[in-house]
Amino acid sequence: MRKILTKYNNNHTYNFKYKMRKNIVAGNWKMNTTLPEGLKLAEEVNAAVAAAKPKCDVIICVPFTHLAPIAACIDQDVLGLGAENCADHASGAYTGEVSAPMVASTGATYVILGHSERRQYYGETSAILREKLGLALANGLTPIFCIGEVLEERENGTYNDVVKKQIEEALFDLSAEDFSKIILAYEPVWAIGTGKTATPDQAEDMHAHIRATIAAKYGNEVADNTSILYGGSCKPSNAAELFAKPDIDGGLIGGASLKCADFMGIVNAF
Ligand code: 13P
Repeated sequence: MRKILTKYNNNHTYNFKYKMRKNIVAGNWKMNTTLPEGLKLAEEVNAAVAAAKPKCDVIICVPFTHLAPIAACIDQDVLGLGAENCADHASGAYTGEVSAPMVASTGATYVILGHSERRQYYGETSAILREKLGLALANGLTPIFCIGEVLEERENGTYNDVVKKQIEEALFDLSAEDFSKIILAYEPVWAIGTGKTATPDQAEDMHAHIRATIAAKYGNEVADNTSILYGGSCKPSNAAELFAKPDIDGGLIGGASLKCADFMGIVNAF
């Protein structure tokens, strides 16, 4: 739990409240590591997190092929495990797909959905993502749902509307109870893998906008309890400044999650 400054009151003294939502650092390995490499990295991260006792939950999201063997060698009370995607059908003739029940049966408990790479390269629409979300939730998986604008939308000033629409289209059919099970990740597409991080102020403005969008639909309590992670070139050198912002509850980490020392540098930024 973290004490955060909410606003100045009229006497120019501070109002504090305790933050109930979780701080989370999640790795997204993407399409990296062979199985032996992945097992080695997972064991290393598990040992490092166990020793560090961090002030946040730590999760790794790994390729499908790695889920069951990693589940067998890590302690999920120390290090959470997730997939990077799941199918929009529960089972059937969908060659090459991996379903939410299959992911759950490996022992993993999280799944990244709506990553910009899935939206961009595999044509994932809000309609498809609603199916995936429903299946993930029905199978007890916690979705880490990604949203974020592309560079053109940042530059033409439509980014707040774009992200609001992504949330409304994919998530606002959910009951408040189901919505409360979701972790959000704001990942400006122009910051992913580019080395160009959003400034802490740019990220905080968007996170506050996302929280206000949630509050308008589900109320302040649900909004206050939703963890919203930042993703996009987050590294040990910029994580502390980002995580210090009141509406940034951690990070979804790509490149820097592939080296244990870098990932732990971000985990320990809390
Ligand atoms: P990078 O940290 O490599 O920019 O990737 C972010 C990301 O896409 C995490 O999902």
